[in-house]
Amino acid sequence: MTEQQKQQMEQLARKASAGAYSPYSKFCVGAAVADSDGALHIGCNVENGSYGLTSCAERNALAAAMAAGKRELTAILIYVPGKRVFEPCGACRQVMLELMPGSAKVYSLCDVAEKRWTVSELLPEGFVFPMQ
Ligand code: THU
Repeated sequence: MTEQQKQQMEQLARKASAGAYSPYSKFCVGAAVADSDGALHIGCNVENGSYGLTSCAERNALAAAMAAGKRELTAILIYVPGKRVFEPCGACRQVMLELMPGSAKVYSLCDVAEKRWTVSELLPEGFVFPMQ
C-alpha cells in the first residue's frame, strides 16, 4: 500500500462518513476497502430505529466489495471524525476475518491520530469454518 493509495482510502472513507445515516448515535463512521486490483469500495454505518438492525461502516464496505465481485481484499481504512481513534467492533472483526486474509491491514483514523493493525492482530484465534 503506497502513501498515495492510503490517502485515497482516507479521502473516500471521510466522504462515506459524511454520508452516515446515524440519527440515533450521531456517530459517523466511514470505511474504504482496497482490493488487489487497487479499486476501492466504501461503506458507512446505517442505523435503524430498531437498534439491533444497525449495520456498521466496515461491514457495509466489505459487502460493497463482495457485490463488485472482488474476493482479494488487501486493506480496510476506517474514519471517525474527531480527536479519538476507535477500534472496530467485534462483529466487524469476525467479518474481516471471513473476507480478508489475516495479514490484511486495518487502519483507523480520526482527525489527529491513527492506529493500524492486521486482521489477525485484531482477532487472534478467531472462528474460521472448516471448508472441505
Ligand atoms: N459502528 C460502526 O460503524 N463500526 C464499528 O466498528 C462500531 C460502531 C457504528 C454503529 C452505530 O451506528 C454507531 O457506530 C454507534 O455504535
